[in-house]
Amino acid sequence: MVLFKGLLILTIFYGALAASGPLPVVLWHGMGDTCCFPFSMGSIKKLIETEINGTYVLSLRIGGNIALDYESGFFLHPDDQVRYVCDQLIKDEQLAGGYHAIGFSQGGQFLRAVAQRCSSPPMKTLISIGGQHQGVFGLPKCPSLSNNACEHLRKLLYRAAYKEWIQRELVQATYWHDPLHEEEYRQKSSFLSNINNEVFINQTYIDNLNKLEKFVMVMFLNDTIVQPRESQWFGFYAPGQDTAIRPLTQSGIYEDLGLDKMDHDGKLLHLSVEGDHLQMTSTWFIENIIPLLKKN
Ligand SMILES: *[C@@H]1O[C@H](CO)[C@@H](O)[C@H](O)[C@H]1NC(C)=O
Ligand SMILES: *[C@@H]1O[C@H](CO)[C@@H](O)[C@H](O)[C@H]1NC(C)=O
Ligand SMILES: *[C@@H]1O[C@H](CO)[C@@H](O)[C@H](O)[C@H]1NC(C)=O
Repeated sequence: MVLFKGLLILTIFYGALAASGPLPVVLWHGMGDTCCFPFSMGSIKKLIETEINGTYVLSLRIGGNIALDYESGFFLHPDDQVRYVCDQLIKDEQLAGGYHAIGFSQGGQFLRAVAQRCSSPPMKTLISIGGQHQGVFGLPKCPSLSNNACEHLRKLLYRAAYKEWIQRELVQATYWHDPLHEEEYRQKSSFLSNINNEVFINQTYIDNLNKLEKFVMVMFLNDTIVQPRESQWFGFYAPGQDTAIRPLTQSGIYEDLGLDKMDHDGKLLHLSVEGDHLQMTSTWFIENIIPLLKKN
């Protein structure tokens, strides 16, 4: 009983502490990037720490070192990455009171999977910067890969994205969304069609997503990497062709993932930036993203 009381008091004490400071921020980098390069996530981390004095910023590293982190972005299945991250988040005492999350490029849809699959610790705001929520069909350019490697990746995806071994081995295939073969995508995508509730409806995903206070989607208007760029706002090609775009509100996912309810509750925020993939200035970030992180 005494022990129980002690624990209770401790819990209340830490709960109050956690509530008083700014909420921690978790970052998930994109493909071809890592947790800690000084010119990318490193500088974003520093920027947030400077702008919101005293914030704890965790830039996720997937794997034991930076080389593994880089490789994971191409070769470690998103289900395994998400599990790895959930495990890291729950072990981190500083996040126990909740956190805001910012995903860059594919890190956007991966963090959405974290929100849907792991409700503890609670994610308060999900900010997806250039994420591909309905996947990609085409990969006009690849960040940080040589032209040859990029060409190879592109050919592989067009030719064999839905082969079982590629779905297992290549991260980008797990969110390859071929609107000309919509049924094949639904059945064979080993990640995206699952988290988008397109195979069957997982009510837990809907409930957990709706626990977010805000879901912010940032689209780059002149993106030459994400195709179609509307995927960053959850839009995609209408099935059967690859020119006309169907916005989120007209796609089945709107209801099947409970985004209609979030929208109704004023939780969805669509932002756009002029520029190519992930090309935003620190001024834009400070004006548009920082205020969202200051809310507890
Ligand atoms: C940030 O916080 C530290 C420690 O609380 C304090 O010493 C410092 O003056 C603060 N800086 C700014 C710019 O508020
Ligand atoms: C639905 O998602 C939850 C959270 O990831 C998971 O535990 C559960 O097994 C899923 N349900 C089905 C039927 O796959
Ligand atoms: C970027 O795209 C927007 C919207 O399509 C367009 O208005 C703008 O001119 C483009 N900017 C550049 C630099 O290409």
